[in-house]
Amino acid sequence: MNLLRIACVFAGLGLACTIPDLPIPNTITDPFRLQVQNATVARVHNKFTNLVASGGGDQHLFIDPVGTPTSNFTLSQGVIQWQNVRAVIGGEYSQIDSTTKMFMTGRGDPRAIFEPVYGCNPDTDEVQIELEFVTWQNHPAGGWICVRPSYDNGHEFRYYPPDNNKVDPNRTCYRVTLVVVPAGDGTVEGLP
Ligand SMILES: *[C@@H]1O[C@H](CO)[C@@H](O)[C@H](O)[C@H]1NC(C)=O
Ligand SMILES: *[C@@H]1O[C@H](CO)[C@@H](O)[C@H](O)[C@H]1NC(C)=O
Ligand SMILES: *[C@@H]1O[C@H](CO)[C@@H](O)[C@H](O)[C@H]1NC(C)=O
Repeated sequence: MNLLRIACVFAGLGLACTIPDLPIPNTITDPFRLQVQNATVARVHNKFTNLVASGGGDQHLFIDPVGTPTSNFTLSQGVIQWQNVRAVIGGEYSQIDSTTKMFMTGRGDPRAIFEPVYGCNPDTDEVQIELEFVTWQNHPAGGWICVRPSYDNGHEFRYYPPDNNKVDPNRTCYRVTLVVVPAGDGTVEGLP
């Protein structure tokens, strides 16, 4: 964990929050809201993840202002869960930037696997828990999650694969940090 702290300082972000010297379990049962951060892209920075019901019990993921806010995501062995659906990657592949949709379903599609890590909030410098993207299950490790402009000024969630450098000039998919924000007045285990 000290490495992370050093990384924060060395990234020149002027951040120096004190990272707890504790492992974070990769299961988080305390309900949370899922925030996206990219301090250089105001249109997505600090927005929250919402759900839009789709066919077959699926839920599609968007950030404000599209969709219904939810404050009860959980994490089970690195997989984001909400009620009986979980975050998976698959479908709506875009040739132009090689991205693939991330959404929630109860079916068996390969999961999006994350690892909770500590980080420093880029605005407040407070300790936060981030969900670092590890892999699309059954695919090469790496890549990241980005949000791409969608309808009604919202943005949808996409997977950007490793060893990719393609960008859609008309519809940039902005790389984001996913952040666990405790629901309501609650807390999430591991946060100071
Ligand atoms: C999440 O919130 C919704 C709506 O308030 C509720 O129906 C659902 O039971 C909650 N799920 C969990 C796992 O708490
Ligand atoms: C971007 O949008 C412009 C204007 O609609 C269009 O002419 C162009 O083909 C688009 N570029 C790509 C790569 O889709
Ligand atoms: C913010 O988004 C841009 C465009 O996707 C990306 O190049 C940059 O790395 C992102 N910043 C962070 C901190 O993810």
